[in-house]
Amino acid sequence: MFDRMRSILGSILILFVAGCSGVQTHQFDLPEQVTFNEHIAPIIHQNCMPCHRKDGGAPFEMVKYKDVAKRAKMIAEVTSDRYMPPWPADPNYRSFVGERFLTEEQIALLEKWVEDGRLEGSGNPPEPPNYAEGSMFGEPDLVVPFQDTVFIEGNNLDRFMVVKVPFELPKDTFIRLIEFVPGNRELVHHMNGHLINYDFDKKQDVFEGQHVVTDVDGSTIETYQQLSIAHDDGSFPTLTPSVSNYLPGVLPAMYPEGIGSYKVNRKAAFLIKNMHYGPTPKDAYDRSYFNIFFAKGAPQRPIKEWLLGTLGISEVEPALVVPPDSIMKVQTEFTVPFDVSLLTINPHMHLIGRDFKAWATTPEGEEIPLISIPKWDFRWQYFYTFKQMLKIPKGSVIHAEGLYDNTLDNPNNPFDPPKTVVEPVNRDMKTTDEMFQFIITYLPYQAGDEHISLEPDARLFEH
Ligand code: HEC
Repeated sequence: MFDRMRSILGSILILFVAGCSGVQTHQFDLPEQVTFNEHIAPIIHQNCMPCHRKDGGAPFEMVKYKDVAKRAKMIAEVTSDRYMPPWPADPNYRSFVGERFLTEEQIALLEKWVEDGRLEGSGNPPEPPNYAEGSMFGEPDLVVPFQDTVFIEGNNLDRFMVVKVPFELPKDTFIRLIEFVPGNRELVHHMNGHLINYDFDKKQDVFEGQHVVTDVDGSTIETYQQLSIAHDDGSFPTLTPSVSNYLPGVLPAMYPEGIGSYKVNRKAAFLIKNMHYGPTPKDAYDRSYFNIFFAKGAPQRPIKEWLLGTLGISEVEPALVVPPDSIMKVQTEFTVPFDVSLLTINPHMHLIGRDFKAWATTPEGEEIPLISIPKWDFRWQYFYTFKQMLKIPKGSVIHAEGLYDNTLDNPNNPFDPPKTVVEPVNRDMKTTDEMFQFIITYLPYQAGDEHISLEPDARLFEH
């Protein structure tokens, strides 16, 4: 296993110093002297800097020696706990695009660097990578900003909003990629955006109604009314779910041309059902925006989605009612009706979730691992993209299993003393309710799919 990790990160590890009497830990030797310039900077630049840089979303920068030396002890702690870099999925169970984790050796290097006295070393550190401003993908075809600046009251609480971001186009078209760019990078924690397409003659004014509803988490009919989501005749427009998701340091999923672009009508809006802002002691503001890149035409292969579990196509068993002071396991199962190629998966639980696991069992009894999250973290809910399309044959059963910890040992338990936590019965839900969902995006299988890489297209970075 170390060999596999080493081959991924091999170029940045300098592990064996010939004949050295380095400290012996696990199966590797550490250098006599660990220095920032030689050993630490490459680890930090690759694994921490994507978020810990100016405008990167994390609370402080980690680029130069002094940024890192100042917090060295804390860095050694959060890395050995595997709290940072945040990647809750077990990389040994399944690898995904953009995964970030440190090897045991890298963690030991960080620890030894602190013990050795945080040496800077001679020479220069390697050049940190360059990050484009505004867009990671070059010049967008269209920028759609929030209509209103969002006010975030300085009350030290996590804030959840629902935001409507309406826009108009000269004609119906197709979108290849949607990139969310946070305005207030320190406070925008995550967002999950859906696309609303209006029938042209059923909505006079897409901009009418409120654009932001504060302190609601999820969506209720009242919220929809305040935002004036419906057509003028009261009917609801079409909603394409999860077209854009944001977490600090995560690139949006981008598929090869022809796969999974979205149709967008002349009158449209993004609906952000959970715009999550982190706590702040001072009043603050945010005006985020979407960068849109158009597709050349209609998708040859539109992306489809299955939602398993709560409010979805498969039942949660037993029913998700978690009594106080108990630990409970639930599961859901779904039989795949035809050969499919999986693209991304998104496990979803709330605060008392503790671990999550999903796999498929083929009709021949072969087990295909999908994802294992041994230490659930409500704050880091990625849409995990497979490195290559993953074929699941017809008749396979997809199993998902979740463990909930409603005791006080769970530091995220929202209630003290614990209370019974239940699933919402309708779409009216709060973070303190629970959910058990597994969202899968897929295409009907075509021969050769398993060789198609889902790594972002390198050509788009040439700017
Ligand atoms: C995907 C983005 C991301 C990456 C990658 C990342 N961090 Fe962080 N880090 C954050 C965010 C956001 C916070 C603040 C919120 C939190 O603690 O969850 C944070 C907080 C921290 C803290 C403060 C923890 C505390 O308890 O106050 C430390 C230390 C830290 N990161 C170190 C690192 C190190 C070291 C790496 C690389 C090995 C790293 N981070 C990689 C996003 C990231």
